[in-house]
Formats: sequence, structure tokens, C-alpha cells
Amino acid sequence: MEDKRENFGSKIGAILAAAGSAVGLGNIWRFPIVTGQNGGAAFIIIYIVCILLLGLPIMISEFLIGRHTHANTAGAYRILSNDGVWKWVGRLGVFTGWLILCYYGVVGGWTLHYSFLSATSAFNGVEASEFGDIFESFSSNPWMPTLWLVLFISITHIVITRGVQSGIEKFSKVMMPVLFIITAILVVCSVSLPGASAGIEYLLVPDWSKVTSGTVLSAMGQAFFSLSLGMGCLCTYASYFDGGTKLAKTAVNVSIIDTIVAVMAGFIIFPSVFNIGMNPNEVGAGASLIFISLPNVFQQAFTGLPFLSWIFSLLFYFLLFIAALTSAISLHEVATAFVVEEYHTPRRKAAVVVTSVCLVLGVLCSLSFGPLSGIQIFGRNIFSAFDDFSGMILLPIGGMLISIFSGWILDKQLYKEELSNQGDLKTPYFRMLVFALRYIAPVAIGIVFLDMMGLFEFLK
Ligand code: PFF
Repeated sequence: MEDKRENFGSKIGAILAAAGSAVGLGNIWRFPIVTGQNGGAAFIIIYIVCILLLGLPIMISEFLIGRHTHANTAGAYRILSNDGVWKWVGRLGVFTGWLILCYYGVVGGWTLHYSFLSATSAFNGVEASEFGDIFESFSSNPWMPTLWLVLFISITHIVITRGVQSGIEKFSKVMMPVLFIITAILVVCSVSLPGASAGIEYLLVPDWSKVTSGTVLSAMGQAFFSLSLGMGCLCTYASYFDGGTKLAKTAVNVSIIDTIVAVMAGFIIFPSVFNIGMNPNEVGAGASLIFISLPNVFQQAFTGLPFLSWIFSLLFYFLLFIAALTSAISLHEVATAFVVEEYHTPRRKAAVVVTSVCLVLGVLCSLSFGPLSGIQIFGRNIFSAFDDFSGMILLPIGGMLISIFSGWILDKQLYKEELSNQGDLKTPYFRMLVFALRYIAPVAIGIVFLDMMGLFEFLK
């Protein structure tokens, strides 16, 4: 029996669920560092331009495709392309989401472990030089990261099996406000540390001398990943929007929330880094920033105030956990909706299939830091191969195809009707939107893609 298709029960639920997908590890472990390295506010301005020219048009299109068809991503493109070759865009999206979930779950497990370590005061009295070893021995252990991965994916699984309204929507309505509150508390704590102003300056004073063509390319790449574009997430969520949801307004809201959280993450990280006199260029990026540099920063920033460093560290890792979880839920839903609708499977069974595949591949990703580190794919361990293949190849290709499909192939009358909620809303931006989808987005993504593939280096 096919389950009855649900919708989100409220507009705010729909916005928070989509914002939950967008706000993730990308906002916290990547945005602040890239901003710092690329001229602070100068980067933020370029990033916002990228969102306006590229992010919003694609997000609106993904929303529109999902809401119009009320189908999973593969089904949506199949319906709109009349079973033609463009149906492969939807299938590619499902595949990409599934793949991302496998390695994203591994990091989700790490955030749970670090929340646990923080809660049990395990970082108390640890020397600065020891944090690297702690992370190294944890991530290379065959059992511990696997157990945390299983726990993380199981929580995702439980939310998904409860369905759209009582699972995803209810969870987002509770967790997203919690995420905002924790973010705000951590920002206040961090900016009130002595010496914090240097960190604030580092982020907010635009340094245009650091802006290069590479800056623009990183801003585009970051906007893309951070807004969860280029695969089926937002399209799947939008298939649960009702006819009255304002697509453009929802897209603007989601982009604003995503950007605010990313900037706030910078205000959590840099003031405390400057407070302990660390050079921001030495904190590393990604995993080494989050799991090696920052636990040390949080210990030292509150020396002599163990309660504060305990609560700061605990809240920070819990924040990361929630951010990762709401994104993982959206990734899981893409694949679950696909299995439910394309293979006429009940939701519970479909979720088990998706979870099982994720666990098998996720464990391989996790073990690639330990026992399986010898297995190399194009010179990378399994985890990095999944990460790079999806982030650097599949997402840009998906995004480019989505913009070409919605700019060139999709019937413009249908586009306009859906965007205006069948004529209820004014859409003065329609022509600009189509222009961005037809020309700006495909060309811009094409350039980023060629750059990532090293073409420009090669030409130099
Ligand atoms: N937007 C998420 C982040 O910033 O971490 C990651 C992500 C989720 C990317 C879902 C793509 C996606 F479809």
C-alpha cells in the first residue's frame, strides 16, 4: 500500500524545515574560515551577491518543481520532462543526496561524541598539544566512531519514520529555535571575552586586498553547498508545500536565516580565537578547526572559570549536532520519498532501506580514518572521495542542470503560474529570474566547476 502524501501543516513549519536543511556543518565549520581568509566583510558582500544572482533563482526553481509536481525529486523531473532525458536530473539529485548522507553522518557522529566528551568534562585540564592526539585516536578507532555514526543515523531514521508533519516539521519547529537560541548565547559569550574586538574586526572590516578571482569562486561554491542546492533536498521539501506557500518569499527567508547563522558562527569562533592570542590562520579548517583547535580555544578562553568553559563547549557541540541532524534529515527524506513513491514501498520499509545503505557506506567512510585508510580512490581515502565527488562534481553538475532545465526547458507559462500561486501574487522579478537561470547561473557554475577541476591552474 502506498502511504497517503502529506503536506507541511504550517508555513512556519515549511520555512523552518527548509532552513534546517540549509543550516548545517557548512555554516559553522566552513563559512567563518573562508570569510576570514578572504577579506572579512568583503567576502560576505560577494557571498550575498552570489546568493542573489545564483542561489535564490535556483532555490526558487527547486521549490517550484517540487511544489508543482507534489512528487519526490526523481518523480518530479520525470513528470515535468514527460519521461524524457531530463528525468535523469532528478535521479542524479537522489543519488547525490544519498551519497552525501553517508559521509555527513560520520561527522554527525563525531559531533555527538564531542557533545558527550564536553558534557562529561573530558577536556578539563587537557594540554593544548593533546587535542590533536585525542581526535586522531578517536577517529582512527574502528569501533567508537562507528557506534556514534549508528546513533546519529538512528536518530535521523526515527524522525523520518514519523512522517512529514509529526516527524520533520515537528522536529524542525522545536530544534531550529533551539539552534538560534544556542547560537545567540554563544555569540554573546564569545564577543564579551577580553580582546574579542580584534576577532570582530577580523570578520567585519572589509579587506579588499585579499579578494581575488578565487574569492568569488569560493563564495559561489559555499553559497551552493550552504543553501543545500543542486540536488533533491529543497525540491523534496517543497513537494510538501501547500498551494498558498509563497515560493519566492520562502526562498528569501531561508537564505536570510542561513546567512545570519553562518555570520554568527564567525562571531562565535573568531573572538574566542583572538582572545587566547591564537593566529586565525593557524586554526585550520573543517575537522581540524572544529575537533582540534576549538576544544582547546574553549578551554583556554575561560581559564579559571571551568563552569563557563564546560557550558560553552557543550553548547557549541550540541549546536553542531542539531545543525548536522536537521540537514541529515533532509538528505534522508530525499531518498526515502524516492523509494516510497518510485517503488511503491511503505514509508517505514523505505526508511529502513535508506538507513541500511547509509550505514553500510557510512561505516566504510568512517573506517577510512583507521583500518581502511590504505584504500585510496584517486589519491583520497573513502571519506574524502565521497565528499569531493559529491561536493565538487555532482552538486555543481546538478545545479547547472537544474538552472538549464528551469531556464530553458520548463514551460514559462507554467513557471509563472506556479510562482504567482496561480495569479494570486505579483511577480515583477520574473524576467530577471529567468535571465539569471538561463545565463548567469549556468555560466557561473560552469566557471566554478572548471576551476575546481584545476583547468585554470593548468592554463596558467
Ligand atoms: N546545507 C548543508 C550545510 O550547510 O551543511 C549541507 C547540505 C545539506 C548540502 C543538504 C546539500 C544538501 F542537499
